[in-house]
Amino acid sequence: MTGLLDGKRLLITGVLTGASIAFHVARIAQEQGAEVVLTGFGRLRLVERIAKRLPAPASVIELDVTNSEHLESLSGKVSEHVSGLDGVVHSIGFAPASCLGNPFLEAPWEDVATTVHVSAYSFMSLTRAVLPLLSEGASVVGMDFDARQAWPAYNWMGVAKAGLESVTRYLAKELGPEQIRVNLVAAGPVRTVAAKSIPGSDDIEEQWGSRAPLGWKVDDPEPVGKSVCALLSDWLPATTGSMIWADGGFHAVGM
Ligand SMILES: NC(=O)c1ccc[n+]([C@@H]2O[C@H](COP(=O)([O-])OP(=O)(O)OC[C@H]3O[C@@H](n4cnc5c(N)ncnc54)[C@H](O)[C@@H]3O)[C@@H](O)[C@H]2O)c1
Repeated sequence: MTGLLDGKRLLITGVLTGASIAFHVARIAQEQGAEVVLTGFGRLRLVERIAKRLPAPASVIELDVTNSEHLESLSGKVSEHVSGLDGVVHSIGFAPASCLGNPFLEAPWEDVATTVHVSAYSFMSLTRAVLPLLSEGASVVGMDFDARQAWPAYNWMGVAKAGLESVTRYLAKELGPEQIRVNLVAAGPVRTVAAKSIPGSDDIEEQWGSRAPLGWKVDDPEPVGKSVCALLSDWLPATTGSMIWADGGFHAVGM
């Protein structure tokens, strides 16, 4: 049987637990024939243990996207495992507590700067770090939470996501001539470590389930994982600078 991602060499960031969106992207990608290399932030032993639950072995490289030495050595380390890359997944986000749920007007700049650095700027720095390895036709995919509107509690993370959406358009513009596509998947709420750090995420989850035209299950990362894999495949060859919703259609309805 042929898989959607047969022969694709992918670098996937953002696996922390078995619930991480990145874990499910890696799982589905391997099921579809891809060769996967992971990066892990900090707790490498934990990430390596989680990686063992994937259908096929995947090496783990340490990457803190705010660490310039990690970024500079990344392509060399990836080359030890694969000869090049046909796809990269950025599934990374972080905001200090002051930036989520607390009064929007009180977040200090240092914390906002961290949020933007890790969650938006790093989409560019990760892409730049692996650029020499990217093949013609390669696909770069990031994870978004629709930032066209203000959400309860999402606060400065929402601002960072708006930045991420803009970074995507500029990367697409710059890398299009190299035939490299850059897109985001705007996911509905999925229960992960990052989601649990958002105060009031239960309310958002509840609303989503009842309002999304297709319905929505917060404990089912499969639709989001499949959407990322679709963008990593050769089947959206003219799509770049876009945000693709995997949200049950929630964004399309008012009430
Ligand atoms: N879960 C949701 O409801 C949801 C919805 C839409 C978008 N997203 C986005 O999906 C992405 C993945 O989040 P998730 O929900 O799977 O949660 P998660 O907690 O499993 O993943 C977040 C990842 O970010 C990594 N990270 C944090 N700081 C980092 C740094 N400095 N360098 C490198 N990696 C770092 C963590 O190690 C972790 O692997 C994030 O961008 C998140 O905003 C999540």
